[in-house]
Amino acid sequence: MIESLKLEKHDESRQGEVFTSPAGSAVSASRFFYIESYGCAMNFADSEIVASILHENGFGVTKTMEDADLVLLNTCSIREKAEQTVRKRLTEFRKLKKTKPGMLIGVLGCMAERLKNKLLEEEKLVDLVVGPDAYRSLPSLIDEADTGQKAVNVLLSRDETYADISPVRLNSNGVTGFVSIMRGCNNMCSFCVVPFTRGRERSRDAGSIVTECRQLFEEGIREITLLGQNVDSYHYFDELTEQTVSFSQLLETVAGIDPLLRVRFSTSHPKDITDDVLFSMQRYPNICRYIHLPMQSGSTRVLQLMNRTYTREWYKAKVDRIRELIPDCGITSDIISGFCTETDEDHRDTLGLMAYSQLDFSYMYFYSERPGTLAARRYTDDVPETIKKERLAEIVDLQGRLSRESNQRDLGKTFDVLIEGESKRNAAEWMGRNSQNKVIVFPKTSPQQKKGDYVMVTVTDYTQATLLGAIVSGDR
Ligand code: SAH
Ligand code: SF4
Ligand code: F3S
Repeated sequence: MIESLKLEKHDESRQGEVFTSPAGSAVSASRFFYIESYGCAMNFADSEIVASILHENGFGVTKTMEDADLVLLNTCSIREKAEQTVRKRLTEFRKLKKTKPGMLIGVLGCMAERLKNKLLEEEKLVDLVVGPDAYRSLPSLIDEADTGQKAVNVLLSRDETYADISPVRLNSNGVTGFVSIMRGCNNMCSFCVVPFTRGRERSRDAGSIVTECRQLFEEGIREITLLGQNVDSYHYFDELTEQTVSFSQLLETVAGIDPLLRVRFSTSHPKDITDDVLFSMQRYPNICRYIHLPMQSGSTRVLQLMNRTYTREWYKAKVDRIRELIPDCGITSDIISGFCTETDEDHRDTLGLMAYSQLDFSYMYFYSERPGTLAARRYTDDVPETIKKERLAEIVDLQGRLSRESNQRDLGKTFDVLIEGESKRNAAEWMGRNSQNKVIVFPKTSPQQKKGDYVMVTVTDYTQATLLGAIVSGDR
């Protein structure tokens, strides 16, 4: 079944990937926890907050669930398939629990928030249900669960940003990292469950963001992605300076930490991205030439039903403006096929807008109705699944062509590449990314080279998902 298709195998930055915590680190820990994360990068970042809170309370992290006293699943509700994956995993955990009676199972994240107590009724062996804004209460909830009670906290907050909590990095490659700059979402895209699972939008203290980024840089991290559901609406009133910090100002401050630190951001909403952000990108070469600009649909009528509040022409104008100000900018997107009432003509509009925008890459899905959303309440999910999938297959095909064309345009070009590690297929090769977020694989040329270095690489060949190249000089 095609639910979502990813063309770029190496991109683990977004929804759908599974992540396992690294080997136990806290030597003094008396109990151990195991955590798996699903969903978007924000969920992965939250798991690191959870790890920090648990560390402070005497828990060490383990990467084998058999060794764990507490098994946590940080869950995603974005599509039905995401929830099914979690339920399957819970079945496996339940089997383990039968052999380890004292072990606790906790469900965190968006599914915990969406289903609340229902989750305890449906999944009898779950002991803890904790929503995204309630992680500070984990230690007391664990105490409660230890006494055999079911422990639940799914309160959403208007101001929780975990700003003061220094995340414990789990599974870091030592080169790239995520930093959450805001939580929640105030948009009401009619298909989307996020406003219900993550609550109201709030921006994190700018000072704490910059401190965390600086610390990451000092620890050797060379690329930071600033995360939010809608980063362009970031705004923080700084009481010390009595000034409001906008997203472009925050971006410039983080980029100003060091020219060797690359900065990315995600996600930009087409209705909100401003020229200011593009001007910041022009001013700072270390702000990556890459914008993830989810289109969702190319039909103005469908966009209206989706409550995206922009039109096809608006999206085109944004793409034109990005290309005018940052000609070498990579643009990627999210696309949904088969939203309520979508006709063949609407679908052709989506294909047309994808081609117009020359998207380098997209995450593509067919519409999955989510209970409680505006669309579920107002519209009928009336596009048959076969048609949704047929249209998705066409979208995927077109994106494949656009990605290959985009890679072909890079042939012969030389890029500044940050080495992220050894290529998975060949230990004699490096894997890195260019500013446009494309993965490049190339042969190692010197024993002095190491991950975290920048090298200039000329593109000599490509596949649909990867550029292949050769180092032209060791220095930038
Ligand atoms: N804040 C981001 C999106 C977060 S969710 C934004 O506004 O772009 C990531 C993607 O999942 C969305 O962009 C959308 O393409 C997809 N998605 C969300 N709800 C969905 C649903 N009900 N069915 C199918 N895809 C969905
Ligand atoms: Fe969902 Fe829309 Fe918010 Fe993105 S902007 S998280 S799609 S409601
Ligand atoms: Fe992210 Fe999934 Fe929640 S995409 S915000 S973890 S519903």
